[in-house]
Amino acid sequence: MSKNNSTHEKFSSRIAIIAATAGGAVGLGNLWSFPYKAGVNGGGTFVVMYLISVLLIGAPVMLAEFIIGRAGHGGPMAAISNLDNKKSPFMAASWLATFTAFSIMSFYCVIAGWAVIYFIKGIKNGFSSFLSNNSAELFNQTISNTPVSTIGQLIFIGLTVAVVLLGIEKGIEKLTKVMMPLLFIIIVLMVVYSMTLSGFNDALRYLFTPTAVPDKNILEISLAAMGQSFFSLSVGMGVSMTYARYIDKKEDLGKITLQVAVADTTIALLAGLAIFPIIFTTPGIEPTGGAGLAFISLPVGFAQMPFGRFIGISFFFLLIVAAVTSSVALLECVVVAVMEKTKIKRTNATISVAVLAAALGVLCQKGLNFSLPLLTSIVGTDTSGAPYAFLEQLDKLTMEWTIPIAALVFTIFTGWRLKPEILKEQISNKTLAKVFSIYIKYVSPILILILFAGVFFGIVD
Ligand code: PHE
Repeated sequence: MSKNNSTHEKFSSRIAIIAATAGGAVGLGNLWSFPYKAGVNGGGTFVVMYLISVLLIGAPVMLAEFIIGRAGHGGPMAAISNLDNKKSPFMAASWLATFTAFSIMSFYCVIAGWAVIYFIKGIKNGFSSFLSNNSAELFNQTISNTPVSTIGQLIFIGLTVAVVLLGIEKGIEKLTKVMMPLLFIIIVLMVVYSMTLSGFNDALRYLFTPTAVPDKNILEISLAAMGQSFFSLSVGMGVSMTYARYIDKKEDLGKITLQVAVADTTIALLAGLAIFPIIFTTPGIEPTGGAGLAFISLPVGFAQMPFGRFIGISFFFLLIVAAVTSSVALLECVVVAVMEKTKIKRTNATISVAVLAAALGVLCQKGLNFSLPLLTSIVGTDTSGAPYAFLEQLDKLTMEWTIPIAALVFTIFTGWRLKPEILKEQISNKTLAKVFSIYIKYVSPILILILFAGVFFGIVD
């Protein structure tokens, strides 16, 4: 390995920066959870609230993270201590963000592992065995078969590790520059295909017409949309901060934030446009399918439609591609934190973090039926009073607690602690710098507190 320590590495071009940061942002969140959350939250109403939260909450926090990372020359650990001091109380958020990135990485690789298995299944046997009456069963069998599901998880982690070991320019940059355009092409082709289906108009109406949602109130839907926008833009876990240290001073961070947010949102909407027509065209499946939408409902569509096998294989390939560029970002973020704290070299840090994340991920395997009592006291139980499985526990812990808390602290740090000159230096556009300094000081923290209060008082679950 020629570059064992990435401290002096830089992205080689503007395109590379956008590809890598958008690659980190576009992932399972866009292709898997955005459509299913839109589905359970009434389609159009959720989509509108989502767009508002990306603009008003997610993007400003992302810009704050970019600023901290580039001005502080580091990932969350080094950046905060460089800009404040080693004993800064704000460091607590750095630890929290690193913990979040590590936990997400653990369960993210398990879900991506399911995509790996479905991809292989599709190539081997197609999707004809997935019929509406047994698709859920097949899915449950797949994910509770621990050895198989663990193999999927490990194949996926292996891919991630290989890229991070190669470093910024040779690994992350090369991968994302090829994969992001590829991802875009596949998803556009899928949308074009979906336009030919009879359910396309229903899907359009469903996704873009806000309507009242039975049994959910608007606050609940807005909070779900806010949480999803944080996850999808990868804020609150130091990922943008980590990448910002590789961004040249000349680059305009405001522009980069805008481009990444637009790219991320576009892909989420395209995913909706690719998926919902299939759902509306196939008898017996509903948009409200929940977390199983991609793995239970869609294969039923693939089993019945023309070229379904090819479309299905492309879809799971797309999921893997999107997930790998995201898990690379997550791993990079934790690896940088470890390197900053311990002086362990990149190779060793990457391998150790990956092994630990794989171990924690194995506990997320559904077949093991594991859940941590300590987490039950934080994230609660499901409607039947049973503890959530470990995967859902980690998902809830990060989405509802650690991400909003770290994001809140990062905004307070940027608005109240960072010297105003630094903001001016980091944001090239003077008007944006002015508006942003007020916004991040007063508006962002209040909006995040509202989200957090919603979680705290159990409005969102
Ligand atoms: N934003 C990614 C997604 O939408 C998930 C992710 C979260 C990636 C945090 C990196 C860091 O899937």
